[in-house]
Amino acid sequence: MPTPSLILHGGAGNIPDDTLQEHADGCRQAAQIAWDLLSRGGPALDAVEAAVRVLEDDPTFNAGHGACLTRDGDIEMDAILMDGATLNAGAVGAIQRVKNPVAVARLVMERTQHCLLVGAGAEAFARSQGIPVWPTQNLITERRLARWREAQPGGGQRSETSVRETAGHDTVGAVALDVNGHVAVATSTGGIDNKLPGRVGDSPLIGCGAYADDALGAASATGWGESLMKTVISKSACELIAGGATAQQAAEAVIRHLDERVNGRGGIIVVDRQGRVGYAFNTPRMACAWVTPEGSIRAEC
Ligand code: GLY
Repeated sequence: MPTPSLILHGGAGNIPDDTLQEHADGCRQAAQIAWDLLSRGGPALDAVEAAVRVLEDDPTFNAGHGACLTRDGDIEMDAILMDGATLNAGAVGAIQRVKNPVAVARLVMERTQHCLLVGAGAEAFARSQGIPVWPTQNLITERRLARWREAQPGGGQRSETSVRETAGHDTVGAVALDVNGHVAVATSTGGIDNKLPGRVGDSPLIGCGAYADDALGAASATGWGESLMKTVISKSACELIAGGATAQQAAEAVIRHLDERVNGRGGIIVVDRQGRVGYAFNTPRMACAWVTPEGSIRAEC
């Protein structure tokens, strides 16, 4: 019987010094809740969803409550959940007015024949499944509003490079292996600061923001979505595992490729089917937490 395993992230980017502790604490809390499920024999799919719901509810992170704002000052969120046992996946793109996008992604996976619903259609589907309206003002935080104001004309707008280097990339994600040998992944995000309305990033795209296959492992990405998409980073990490890389080697290799091939910035977490975890990033910081082989939770930022 495999030993369960878990690693999660609270995003890669230029995480400010004064929020390091809250990022680490938030990751630790999410890891604890997911680990309680996994260590009692629960499914990897439930564990990654539970972890991401905690991170979505925590205003520290750019997902759910605390998501960054579009150019128009609105909130549009992306999320995905993928089951390594079946390769089934559910995702939402540019969804509005829901508290937990990852929960809607799970409903897409379990109650539709589709993999991805976007925009008004995704929101209508959520309502049809009994997900209540969660007003946008309940998702917006003062910190995100201040960043949005700064990005408006006359608000001290930064250069494109500066925005790319420092924008809120702190997407959240989790990957896990359960006692039955199944892997799963969940990823959720508000996207990037000041994005165009309708922009969908890498997070809800299979193979980009997330990938899980019991035969390989699972990965969740964070960072500048346009670059992560171009390198299909999560599937690439899993393919490297198939070629003999450890989870750590795979994580390092895809971040190196991201940098060299498209000058991309981001991070990734990986678990292989033996339960070994790895992570890598080329941003100033990445928040993450994982369970050590001895069963204790470590959080870093
Ligand atoms: N990686 C999150 C995004 O670019 O939307």
